[in-house]
Amino acid sequence: MLNRPGKLRVAVLVSGGGTNLQAILDARGTVIQNAEIVLVVSSQPGAFALERARLAGIPSVTLSKKELGGQGAFEAALAKALEESSVDLIVLAGFLTILSADFTRRYERRIINIHPSLIPAFCGKGYYGLQAHEAALARGVKVTGATVHYVNEIPDGGEILLQKAVPVLPGDTPQILQRRVMEQAEWILLPQAIQQIAAERLNEKC
Ligand code: GAR
Repeated sequence: MLNRPGKLRVAVLVSGGGTNLQAILDARGTVIQNAEIVLVVSSQPGAFALERARLAGIPSVTLSKKELGGQGAFEAALAKALEESSVDLIVLAGFLTILSADFTRRYERRIINIHPSLIPAFCGKGYYGLQAHEAALARGVKVTGATVHYVNEIPDGGEILLQKAVPVLPGDTPQILQRRVMEQAEWILLPQAIQQIAAERLNEKC
């Protein structure tokens, strides 16, 4: 699966602020030893994540489904960008555009996602970003967290790779809880998952 021996080539797909992208970039050389970030793809023109990529000297491209005229054209352009950069692993880090079953099958076990809850709680269609935390608070759970999973055709339904629990505290708002889950779980798990996959795939090559 690897294009060449050495480091796993990773593309990070974003739509917003990109704090998870930043965590990945900051983990290079420490947690992440066997992977390099070769491309950032944003589905949103002007996303702050693009500025983070620029500051880190990582090539980036914006591919908007709306501007490209639909899902088919968007996924064709995305596949082209990934192939041109010889990407081994696709990391969804707050990526808002749903990928079709055709696309996820084509990249089977080559796409991972970070989700801000302990799957199977508060996941699937309609649970994005703050919504997952609003739902956790509404349900009154005392523990939530984050999950890194492989991406398949079922939203948030792929094999779970890593999870980390985070306490819900009295007085939490969705925003406060979101920040705690990011700090205590997401920004730790996503670099770990990338390194875990990179180490496994490199071992397979040996
Ligand atoms: C993160 O909390 C991530 O877990 C969530 O979007 C946020 C993106 O923040 N993703 C999902 O909800 C996916 N279903 P970021 O742009 O600062 O990394």
